[in-house]
Amino acid sequence: MYKKRRRVKKKVIYLGSALIVFIVLIITTIMLIKHFTSNEYKLEKIGYNEKEITNILKLDNKYINYALNHKYDDDLIKLTNQKWFIWDKYKEYKKYIKDLEDRPAEVNYKDVITKVNTKTNYKYYTHTKETNMDLGNAILVNKYYSLPKQYAPDNVVDIPATYSFAGNQIKEEVFNAFKEMADAAKNDGITLIVNSGYRTYEYQKGLYDQYALENGTDFADDYAARPDFSEHQTGLALDIVSYGLNMDNFAGSDTYKWLINNCTKYGFILRYPEGKEEITGYAFEGWHYRYVGKDLAKKIEKSGLTFDEYYAYYLDR
Ligand code: DAL
Ligand code: ZN
Repeated sequence: MYKKRRRVKKKVIYLGSALIVFIVLIITTIMLIKHFTSNEYKLEKIGYNEKEITNILKLDNKYINYALNHKYDDDLIKLTNQKWFIWDKYKEYKKYIKDLEDRPAEVNYKDVITKVNTKTNYKYYTHTKETNMDLGNAILVNKYYSLPKQYAPDNVVDIPATYSFAGNQIKEEVFNAFKEMADAAKNDGITLIVNSGYRTYEYQKGLYDQYALENGTDFADDYAARPDFSEHQTGLALDIVSYGLNMDNFAGSDTYKWLINNCTKYGFILRYPEGKEEITGYAFEGWHYRYVGKDLAKKIEKSGLTFDEYYAYYLDR
């Protein structure tokens, strides 16, 4: 009886131990399978270090999948971390970096993003395409986005002499916004006068050709758009001055100060700011304002971007 109980006890211990070994084996196998199929392991195999893996795994799924399905890419984290990064342009960013002459030790990723987003990685007036006219007041017209051939807008009105030098016209909606702005400026002791508004294709062509003839095409391209590439031809842009001011003294004037502090309230943006010449393709023009509507003007101002950059990130997708 006593012997039998001991045998049973032995058997239980034996079976219990076997069960524990079995469970440990199962758990170890599961853990091993988990490890070898984990993204961490796969990324490590591709060549990413621990820090890079942690950073990649913090990214959106589509970037993680990209990393998992491509060979080691040391630009991935730095590019995706940039504020104005656009996933659809990834290949273009990579190409631009690859084509950089003597790739520098420190790539300026912010610059890569800005250039590719705004197409300024290409020479001006190359890789041009017709702009999306469905965007109405938000259309982009610059050295890469043209108007339809010999475009002429609807609803163009004459600007009354109180608000403009003779002969200027602009789209009616823009005139109404300008009138509101000019009346508010007047209350603050500032006179706003339209120096140039809507320009026809022919007028813009004449202007550009004259600049080019007198000063060469490089100069002309810094100051005037080629026909079908000018915001003036949209009927949405105004050159604004005041009595006694000209291109040379405008930026230092109270009129300019008033305009940059107030224009977005009325739906206008300074289109060619100082320091952004490479992006906009034009010399700083303190007098050139583009109507985009009140909501959009405020959003663009808040973003701190040029319209060209804002368009790439928010409107062209
Ligand atoms: N001055 C601006 C760039 C134009 O000609 O449209
Ligand atoms: Zn202008």
